[in-house]
Amino acid sequence: ARADGEGEIAMLDWSELEARVSACERCRLCEKRTNTVFGVGDRAAEWMLIGEAPGENEDKQGEPFVGQAGRLLDSMMRALALARGENVYIANVVKCRPPGNRNPEPDEAASCEPYLRRQVALVKPRLIVALGRVAAQNLLKTDASISSLRGRVHRYEDVPVIVTYHPAYLLRSLQDKAKAWADLCLADATYRELLA
Ligand code: URA
Repeated sequence: ARADGEGEIAMLDWSELEARVSACERCRLCEKRTNTVFGVGDRAAEWMLIGEAPGENEDKQGEPFVGQAGRLLDSMMRALALARGENVYIANVVKCRPPGNRNPEPDEAASCEPYLRRQVALVKPRLIVALGRVAAQNLLKTDASISSLRGRVHRYEDVPVIVTYHPAYLLRSLQDKAKAWADLCLADATYRELLA
């Protein structure tokens, strides 16, 4: 991670942050991107969903989760009575597409982290849902597996975090859909408890 700029990023407002991301050259992923993918949704949302990194469609369109995985994510949100853009903000750990959709390298995720941290600070969500291993491991600073992280409440910057499978994984892995459903139930129960 480059230390320079991190403190400064933590002071930016939304429009400054968005401009900073779109011009970002903090890591090598800037070289091959078509568009940065900043994030989308309600900037005062109670829910924040955090994925891994843009794929091909997201890189083309500049918006997170617009491909097939995004359609499943829309269904997952419906299960939580959330619609895209209403009470939910969606972002990724990494704002630029890794070539060939490989996983982001640790240094790439670290370079991008100040942006996500600032987004969380600006949105101030009540609850974060980490989508998949890369999101969970980066947010929670752990090497633990999804199966060991799901089913309980973690914290990121004092915000409760629920871990579940990535929708792109669930598209290939029908047998884990029931577990993902249970994760969404835990997220919903945790949210309701926060309101109570
Ligand atoms: N997968 C992700 O993790 N994020 C996206 O935006 C799209 C696919």
